[in-house]
Amino acid sequence: MSLQGTAAYEAGGHLPELVRRAVDAARTHGFAYSCRPEQGRLLQTLAAGASAGIAETGTGCGVGLAWLASGAAPGTRLISVERDPARARIAADVFRDREDVEVLLGDWRRVEESGPYDLLVLDGGGQAKGDGTADPARLLTTGGTVVIDDFTPSPTWPPRFNGALDHSRLYWLEHPALRATELRLAPDLSVIVGTRRHETETPNPDAEPVGQPRG
Ligand SMILES: C[S@@+](CC[C@H](N)C(=O)[O-])C[C@H]1O[C@@H](n2cnc3c(N)ncnc32)[C@H](O)[C@@H]1O
Repeated sequence: MSLQGTAAYEAGGHLPELVRRAVDAARTHGFAYSCRPEQGRLLQTLAAGASAGIAETGTGCGVGLAWLASGAAPGTRLISVERDPARARIAADVFRDREDVEVLLGDWRRVEESGPYDLLVLDGGGQAKGDGTADPARLLTTGGTVVIDDFTPSPTWPPRFNGALDHSRLYWLEHPALRATELRLAPDLSVIVGTRRHETETPNPDAEPVGQPRG
């Protein structure tokens, strides 16, 4: 069975210095739910092309944000929103040397105060999982990318989770403003990645939507 969250970093391997610092902070403060290295490497890769700005919901102790910051081109602005005051303080300390990175305290909707972004990572609110639903048409630049973390790979279509239709996954996969797909990062872990369509593109007329958002 795969190690989850912060514990996944016990397997070792090279980490960027900033990621190492965030993982150490998560361990020190007993925060178990950091993004896994597989997710982190995806975020690092995507960040490289996101010069118009990067936003994340759900900072935790800053592990995912550290992967993003370690991949972003110089001059790229990164913000992340965390509603837990202690975690927001811990994460802000991780990035104390990085003027380009800002940790905001509050509800995920604070990402709506800025934008649109070239890259939006939904890892704590806004995922259409019952805690609100981010609007990619408003929050992404044209061609910008959204990543929705933490799905369990589903072998069926339409996708199901715990026996029920997975409305969150369907919301993103069928969103008319996006081209979206599910990427399996590990046998027990997948993410959805979508890019915002150009205004002139029409959504696939053959698609038969089966999902509705919950949040
Ligand atoms: C899975 S953890 C995030 C892990 C982090 N992104 C990382 O990569 O290490 C989810 C975080 O989202 C925060 N969160 C949950 N709902 C939120 C909301 N509505 N607004 C802001 N933060 C939220 C939680 O407090 C928690 O710290």
